Amino acid sequence: MPSIRDILNLGPVMPVIVIDDSANAVPLARALLEGGIKTIEITLRTPAALDSIRAVADACPDITVGAGTVTRADLAAAARDAGAAFAVSPGATPAVIKGCAVAGLPLLPGASSASEMMALHDQGFDCVKFFPANAAGGTAFIKALASPLPDISVCPTGGITEATAPKWLALANVPCVGGSWVAPRDAIAEARFEAIASRARTAAAL
Ligand code: 3PG
Repeated sequence: MPSIRDILNLGPVMPVIVIDDSANAVPLARALLEGGIKTIEITLRTPAALDSIRAVADACPDITVGAGTVTRADLAAAARDAGAAFAVSPGATPAVIKGCAVAGLPLLPGASSASEMMALHDQGFDCVKFFPANAAGGTAFIKALASPLPDISVCPTGGITEATAPKWLALANVPCVGGSWVAPRDAIAEARFEAIASRARTAAAL
């Protein structure tokens, strides 16, 4: 199983997906792959999420699919059983960390302060999701952490766009950013896969 660092190194942008109909999952993944995206986070915010992860994991071996919004321990096992290769959480509770460890699922835990990142590093995490990226301090905040916390890599998500992603990616401690702009919920629901592939191409080339 690839590590979180391996996954964050797959490309500059990890699309964050909110999907309402699992029938759209494989066409979505194929559109993203066509654009050069190699990893996606399907958030467990809709009833269709686990079936969508399962469909992508079964049909699209070239894309690494993770489960996002893993906010409870039981979701870790459910995500793993659906075929997720990793989990992402907006924050990091002991229960979620333990649930992912027990499920054998690599976790990208959320953090939004130096203390949270240090506590996670003490527990063996060297990559965190910085969420909500804009609201919690933006690029200036993460730039300021690179010097005191050089061993921690950050995947910011929350409010990032095609226009602002390059500013984040220019930071030494940001291997990749996450965001829903590549495949917005309404574009998926309306099956606008060509438009998604086009956005994916731009994102993968950032
Ligand atoms: C997330 O779950 O990481 C965010 O909801 C993604 O944020 P965005 O929709 O602002 O890109």
